[in-house]
Amino acid sequence: MHHLLTNCRVATMRSGSPYGLIDDAVVAIRDGHIDWVGPAADRVDDPAEERVDLQGRLVTPGLIDCHTHLVYAGNRAEEWALRLEGASYEEIARRGGGIVSTVAATRAADHSQLLDATRARLGVLLAEGVTTVEMKSGYGLDLKTELRMLRVARELGESADVDVVATFLGAHALPPEYKENRADYVRLIIDEVIPAVAAEGLADAVDAYCEGIAFTTDETRAVFEDAQARGLPLRLHAEQLSNCGGAAMAAGMGALSCDHLEYLDQPGVEAMAAAGTVAVLVPGAWYYLRETQEPPVDALRAANVPIAVSTDHNPGTSPVLSILAAMNMGCVLFGLSPEEALRGATVNAARALGLDDRGLIEPGMLADLAVWDVQSPAELSYALGHNPCRRVYKAGVPRNGG
Ligand code: NIG
Ligand code: FE
Repeated sequence: MHHLLTNCRVATMRSGSPYGLIDDAVVAIRDGHIDWVGPAADRVDDPAEERVDLQGRLVTPGLIDCHTHLVYAGNRAEEWALRLEGASYEEIARRGGGIVSTVAATRAADHSQLLDATRARLGVLLAEGVTTVEMKSGYGLDLKTELRMLRVARELGESADVDVVATFLGAHALPPEYKENRADYVRLIIDEVIPAVAAEGLADAVDAYCEGIAFTTDETRAVFEDAQARGLPLRLHAEQLSNCGGAAMAAGMGALSCDHLEYLDQPGVEAMAAAGTVAVLVPGAWYYLRETQEPPVDALRAANVPIAVSTDHNPGTSPVLSILAAMNMGCVLFGLSPEEALRGATVNAARALGLDDRGLIEPGMLADLAVWDVQSPAELSYALGHNPCRRVYKAGVPRNGG
């Protein structure tokens, strides 16, 4: 089907002008891809096209949530209440709560329970114009549950409504049964879990949590070397609660992204710039943890490090199920401009996932599009709790027949 979207404003997200905005534009879609985009005055119509009048609405690339932990069971509202009474995230983690309590709930859930819980959350993200979502494992921390999580992610990605990028995060926390035996857990990841994940083609990338309460840079490097040997790209949770030097190490290995980055130092910024590594900011976690140390946004800008924004949806530090809210928080909490926030959930998010076929509206790109009832693109990160998404095209097909 060939569609011609007419009477719209298009935020192409091309560089060179604010939002790459084109007023009174048309977008031609053919075979699931963008065929043409530009001012209506420049378009020569093809009578075979089905015209859709968007009544002046804004069109953006479909949004991309490039860092989520969407697959899990249970929730951590009680831990959240404890934190509000003054307990810190690290204290709770050291007491055996935190990530490890979600691990217990996730291990206890079977495939269909995990699938249903995740599908419900995914639906909430998709309603806000999201067309690509990354999902990490990391709440299994044993072979069978890590595989179950990734299979759930893969199964959800079979839907025509969304592409799911699956990331293996076995090095997320030390499972309780390896508490006295860190080296053996790292060996388990390298010798058993990554090979099984790779053999089934269950992951598109490998991530780790490099932090005082999680894995050291040496442990992370060992996992990454193995992942790289299997051709899997790297991502890293880095410098969230302290500066461990993980970002510089990961960037030195060519990582696609380093995420969180509150404590990133200048050498880390420079290493990321040199490698073209994307900085994924996750203001939801910062907000819920009531952090005070902000990621070095000015230094990232000055070094031309691409900045992405994501929900980091997870039951512990960021139960945020809204990419628009994450964009808003990126602006209010970290000082991003609304344009940076939208680039962070489109073109730069695609880059963080190593995807070069989306995130921009230009010929040849996938026709993943969101249509919004707003006048200006800044409105997308302006309101909280309001969803102006009116229509979504996934690979050129209107979602829900809309
Ligand atoms: O991205 N930082 C580590 N991982 C998650 C938190 C996971 C959890 O607390 O369950 C994050 O913030
Ligand atoms: Fe995370």
